[in-house]
Amino acid sequence: MTISMIVGNWKMNTTVDEAEALATQIACGVSDDSNVGVVVCPPFISLVAVQSTLKNSGISLGAQDVHHEVSGAFTGAVSTNMLVNICQYVIVGHSERRSIFRESDAAVNLKVKAVLTAGMTPILCIGESLEEREGGSAEAVVESQLRLGLEGVEAGAGIVVAYEPVWAIGTGRSASPEIAQAMMAHIRQTLVAIGGEEAAAEVSLLYGGSVNAGNVGGYMEQADINGALVGGASLNAESFVEIVRVAAGTG
Ligand code: 13P
Repeated sequence: MTISMIVGNWKMNTTVDEAEALATQIACGVSDDSNVGVVVCPPFISLVAVQSTLKNSGISLGAQDVHHEVSGAFTGAVSTNMLVNICQYVIVGHSERRSIFRESDAAVNLKVKAVLTAGMTPILCIGESLEEREGGSAEAVVESQLRLGLEGVEAGAGIVVAYEPVWAIGTGRSASPEIAQAMMAHIRQTLVAIGGEEAAAEVSLLYGGSVNAGNVGGYMEQADINGALVGGASLNAESFVEIVRVAAGTG
C-alpha cells in the first residue's frame, strides 16, 4: 500500500529560531493519529533544532538536498552520513537544484543511491518546464528524468517521487488535478515498466506546484496521487495544518 503524505519544503526560508517556532506551531495543529504522513524539510542549519522540537510529534523530518559522497573535500556540502541520525527523508533533484545549481540527471541519480544506501527515503523531484509542456514533450521529459534518476535502483517501497511541473512552482498557477493525474498515470506506468506492478504500486507519488488548502483535496482524489510537496504554503503553520487536514479528509 502506498503511504499518503504531505511534505513541506521550506526552501531557503526561516532562521533557526523561526524554524523552531514554525515546527512548534505545526506540531500543535497536526494530530498524531492522522492517516497522512507529515514531513517538514527545513534548511540544513535548522534540522537539529527542529528534530528536537518535533520529538514525539509524529511529524517526520527531511533535508532539502545532500551530497552523494559520504565525506571528504567538498566545501559547503552535507552528506548522508551527517543526516542519517537526524532525518528520514531527503529531497533530491528539485527543479531549483537542477536549474539554478545545474544538477544533471546523473548527479541526481548518485544522490538517490546515496540516500538509499544510508537507509533514508529519497523524494525524487521531476517535472517539465513551460516550454517543454507547450512543445509537447512533457511526458518524454518527465519519463527521462524518472528513468535516469532511478537508474540502478529498485523502485518500490522506500522511494517517493514528486511530480512538480516547473511552471506551477511558486507561480500560483497550479496544474489542474486532471493534468496532474494524467502525468502521474504515466509516471506509474513507467514505474511498472521499470520494476513491475507490485513495486510500482508501493511508490508514493506527490504532486507539487502552488498547492494550498483550497486545491489539495482535488489532487488527493486522483487515483495516482498520494500526497503533495508544498512550498510557499508550508511556511505558514495555519495553512500547512489545513492542507494536512484536508488531505486526511478532516478539513
Ligand atoms: P510552491 O508550493 O511554492 O509552488 O513550491 C512547490 C515546490 O517547489 C515544493 O518543492
